[in-house]
Amino acid sequence: MDSRPSPSPSRNPYVIAVVNQKGGVGKTTTAVNLAACLAASERPTLLIDVDPQANASSAYGITNAERQVYDALIDEVPLTHCAFETELETLHVVPAGRDLVGAEIELVSLESREYRLSQSIQAIGEAYEIILIDCPPSLGLLTLNALTAADAVLIPLQCEYYALEGLANLVETVDLVNAELNPRLAIQGIVLTMADQRNNLARQVEAEVRGHFGDKVYRTRIPRNVRLSEAPSHGQPILLYDIHSKGAVAYVKLADELLAQLALTTLPRKPPVLPNPQSTADEANDEAGATVKLPETTTIDHITTDRSVTHSEE
Ligand SMILES: Nc1ncnc2c1ncn2[C@@H]1O[C@H](COP(=O)(O)OP(=O)(O)OP(=O)(O)O)[C@@H](O)[C@H]1O
Ligand SMILES: [Mg+2]
Repeated sequence: MDSRPSPSPSRNPYVIAVVNQKGGVGKTTTAVNLAACLAASERPTLLIDVDPQANASSAYGITNAERQVYDALIDEVPLTHCAFETELETLHVVPAGRDLVGAEIELVSLESREYRLSQSIQAIGEAYEIILIDCPPSLGLLTLNALTAADAVLIPLQCEYYALEGLANLVETVDLVNAELNPRLAIQGIVLTMADQRNNLARQVEAEVRGHFGDKVYRTRIPRNVRLSEAPSHGQPILLYDIHSKGAVAYVKLADELLAQLALTTLPRKPPVLPNPQSTADEANDEAGATVKLPETTTIDHITTDRSVTHSEE
């Protein structure tokens, strides 16, 4: 069991890598929707997509962006120059794209290859309170860059037969990175995704995970919810796509748990302002719905209302 204390946001921004080397366990769904819920709680948030699949980017309607995380990693373009505004005023997204496939190889010959993302994040100062990084399903150099940049990892876990084995490997990796490359790195928490309480095996796996990791496992489970899988094709997080869905309620509760864990009790700061909003990229994404307006459905009142809804599985 990880005996280190839960990290707290001793510095801004607080960086969380959403990691699991196993594919399709809900990393992107969690990164995309948690980022939206944190932003809707008026926390200036940046979502960085370091997965060449670019699913977190397209989930916000951003495709074929002119500047991407590749440019920050390889050409040292400031991260804020690669960031997009979204429908949520307090959320920006640094997208990934096809270029990133080659980055894994290009990084090998570059100086400080494991720390390129960390350096980019340090250079942007305190514009954001929380940065979430969506990682690919592998433990290569892109994920390693996320782990050296992060204060903590958030692990989405699907309660299946091989889940525990994969989790053990991941915890080993986190320990190794902590010992060799980034002494700050700790486990922020484990979130159970696509949870189905009617499934015996899932219940057994959950009991084992909770027995082993204790309060590192969030009380909130993310249920299997078809609205969560539909939202990305509309270029929207679940909060904007269907705020009353079980998926939205669950991610709002998860964000609440995370904010309580981080003890972010001070008043949120003003939304970050991009130095040069991505005009070309914005034009390219107009049709996809990337705008700077905060729609009414994202006001904090809605969130507060929904926080009172009791979470239940489908
Ligand atoms: N709670 C959920 N309910 C229903 N469908 C979900 C849920 N979470 C994720 N999905 C769907 O499952 C698939 C995999 O989810 P997601 O892309 O978030 O996983 P991932 O871990 O990021 O995958 P990869 O390893 O390929 O990056 C997607 O089609 C997604 O829409
Ligand atoms: Mg993904």
